[in-house]
Amino acid sequence: MKQWVVYGSMFSSTKLKGKNSVTFSVITLAAGLGTRMKSLRPKVLHELAGKPILHHVLDTVRELSPQQTVVVYGHQGEELQSLTKDYEVDWQWQEQQLGTGHALRCAYSALATTGRVLLLYGDVPLITTASLQQLLYATPVEAVGVLTTVMQEPGDLGRIVRDDHGNVTAIVETRDASNAQLDIKEINSGIYVFPYKNLADWLPRLQPNNDQQELYATDLIAMAVSDGVPVLAQNVADYTEVLGVNTQQQLSYLERAYQYQQAICLMRDGVKIYDPKRIDIRGDLNVGKDVVIDINAIFEGEVHLGDGVIIGPNVHLKNVHIAAGSVVHANSVIEDSILSDNTKVGPFARIRPGTKLANGAKIGNFVEVKNSVIGKGTKINHLSYIGDSDVGNSVNIGAGVITCNFDGAKKHKTIIKDEAFIGSNCELVAPVTIGEEATLGAGTTLTRDAPPRALTLSKKILTSIACWVRPTKQKEGI
Ligand code: UD1
Ligand code: CA
Repeated sequence: MKQWVVYGSMFSSTKLKGKNSVTFSVITLAAGLGTRMKSLRPKVLHELAGKPILHHVLDTVRELSPQQTVVVYGHQGEELQSLTKDYEVDWQWQEQQLGTGHALRCAYSALATTGRVLLLYGDVPLITTASLQQLLYATPVEAVGVLTTVMQEPGDLGRIVRDDHGNVTAIVETRDASNAQLDIKEINSGIYVFPYKNLADWLPRLQPNNDQQELYATDLIAMAVSDGVPVLAQNVADYTEVLGVNTQQQLSYLERAYQYQQAICLMRDGVKIYDPKRIDIRGDLNVGKDVVIDINAIFEGEVHLGDGVIIGPNVHLKNVHIAAGSVVHANSVIEDSILSDNTKVGPFARIRPGTKLANGAKIGNFVEVKNSVIGKGTKINHLSYIGDSDVGNSVNIGAGVITCNFDGAKKHKTIIKDEAFIGSNCELVAPVTIGEEATLGAGTTLTRDAPPRALTLSKKILTSIACWVRPTKQKEGI
């Protein structure tokens, strides 16, 4: 079984050795509008596992360390380029999308070196470094190589035509294929390697002799054969690796395939996953030993789960570090935060950016914490909002406590010292400090600091009104 890129990359960029180790450049075609996606966004910016399709391709390409990477673009170039600024690529504009052969022709003039040319379509996101390396290695330097795979239902993918001896003779598109050719199960991935010098000769000779009246890169195969240049088809065992994204259905198919493979890799690393078909990793998930993940968990950005961490169902974690022994119960959302050992969060908790929970801290149901430090063993068990606060160790915060941190213009800080006890339903009007071992009576609106080791409470006069009559509903028809 092939390997998948899971945490950044599992592949080392093994340099090619031997006779086929000539330098190479990469051309990635990404100019098509992607009409079949029925979207205003360029197709290659649609995301798979939280990352644009094109970036999957470019990350894989980067592993190969090519001499140069040219990306052909056509639509919304500014957005495409600004989102892709972390990649070292040269951009080539294709003003009109006249076909894959035309796009290659545009890019060819941008090549700065004369090594081999590895051509990739920017809408094939799951191609692996290993398969590209195999293609480069297996194809002799003077030959043309194409990655193919076998599919029982090849749909509208280009068919690999072979002669009686099994030699590749051409690639034919579905709409141009004869009935006999439509029965061919070996398809074109759209990934090829060409000798640089032959392209100079072949590209001007491409003709729009097809149903779409476009210039097809696929026609280069028949040209190579007629010029006596050997063509090698390198087969990829798992077809999901070379599937392109043309429609939303295809994108969701690849998303699920990718997520499933990530789940398999995690289970191989010892993670217990309740259902590998109900997990989403949109970034890098790093795990310790004996981690348990329940259904529908979503991991975004950089997430670390320490030894023995348990993630309940429907939990959403984004850029979170959770240390050993911690538990996140169902339906909790945690973002840009750090949880130390043995913390407990949820169910139904929201931990917003800038929060640090110290060892053994507990955040219960319907509690929101933002930009706050919560000390060791401190408990905020029910229905509270704690924002911009510095809460000490072993503090107990009762149900319904609210930090009033915003005065309409500025945010203010609440400081709660060690072992303070905040009664239910208190409002802490920041800036305010609650001293060590202080107690706040239930329902206190704290507008000044509370001294340590004292009871502070808002004096409210409790009144009982005798002979008071509760309003009653009039019965209908009376
Ligand atoms: C193409 C292949 C088909 C192959 C399939 C694999 C051709 C003629 N057909 O079909 O044999 O099985 O890919 O996924 O090559 N593009 C440009 N400029 C253009 C046209 C396309 O940059 O003028 C880019 C697109 O953005 C896309 C890629 O080239 O990233 C492929 O184009 P697409 O229209 O998706 O080709 P397919 O119909 O999928
Ligand atoms: Ca395609």
